[in-house]
Amino acid sequence: MKNNPTKKENRFRAGYGPWALVAGGSTGLGAAYVRELASRGLNVVAVARNGEKLAGLKAECEAKHQVEIRTLVLDLLDSGAFDRVVDATKELDIGLLVYNAAFPNAGVFLDRGVELQRSVVTLNCLRPMELTHHFGSLMKARGKGGIILMSSLTAFNGSPYIANYGATKAFNMILGEGLWYELKQNGIDMTVCCAGVITTPNFDEGFSGKASLIEPPKMSPEEVARRAAEMLGRKAVFVPGGMNSFLSFIMRRLMSRRAAVKLMAKTVEDLSIEDRQAEQRVG
Ligand SMILES: NC(=O)c1ccc[n+]([C@@H]2O[C@H](COP(=O)([O-])OP(=O)(O)OC[C@H]3O[C@@H](n4cnc5c(N)ncnc54)[C@H](OP(=O)(O)O)[C@@H]3O)[C@@H](O)[C@H]2O)c1
Repeated sequence: MKNNPTKKENRFRAGYGPWALVAGGSTGLGAAYVRELASRGLNVVAVARNGEKLAGLKAECEAKHQVEIRTLVLDLLDSGAFDRVVDATKELDIGLLVYNAAFPNAGVFLDRGVELQRSVVTLNCLRPMELTHHFGSLMKARGKGGIILMSSLTAFNGSPYIANYGATKAFNMILGEGLWYELKQNGIDMTVCCAGVITTPNFDEGFSGKASLIEPPKMSPEEVARRAAEMLGRKAVFVPGGMNSFLSFIMRRLMSRRAAVKLMAKTVEDLSIEDRQAEQRVG
């Protein structure tokens, strides 16, 4: 935490501290969330599979800010993952949940096994629902808190070649939007971040081409994490970045759904987006 925090920073800490949990907090946007929250004076539990990256992030954030970072090395796809998170946090006062982890899984739907498609739903839908229920209940008891769910522009209409992933992101958007109203009655701020392209290592690894119709604007993980923290308590669902908001407005309001799906198909084909590690992830 800064030596002289502003009133705004003190309000953030009072509303969403003293602890935050970032599910999927070792790299890319997840690491940016951990850094953003640490800089705002929150202690953070960072959950992910890569223990080395988590340890590096812990050392960096603790040296820079006066906060404690705990790491939980865990595969959120494991059947006991929910219980492990509950157990590891039972003595902590968690005021903010960020569910960032996701299984990207781009490719032709029928070319990938059903086990893999099931894992996409488990990591992207089941776990955020379970953790929102658990931490939401604890926040309700304390009368305050915040939850950020990561969604995507793919949530707004069907996205060929990332169809199952897009459908899971729609689940998060609709879950969060509904809960925004319910949880507000309990003093809990919910916001869903529907991001466009973010320059995370995951995304960079996954695409190799160039879009011929509309080049999707790219945002840095730091910018997206900062915007999401700022939107807490202000918006139920938001699209970070002016250009992303403009494109999503055109696709949702000015184009037919059919045309939007075709544009999405062309863009994904052009970018040759492919999740090359998908099969290995489920063993
Ligand atoms: N990147 C984009 O262009 C983009 C666009 C729109 C929306 N989004 C959304 O933004 C979020 C982050 O995007 P990103 O994919 O680029 O990822 P990222 O934040 O760069 O990395 C994903 C994080 O989740 C962790 N993770 C992945 N699988 C996990 C598992 N089975 N168990 C535990 N942790 C796991 C990863 O760490 P380990 O590998 O160490 O486990 C990593 O810390 C996602 O929700 C995504 O849907 C991204």
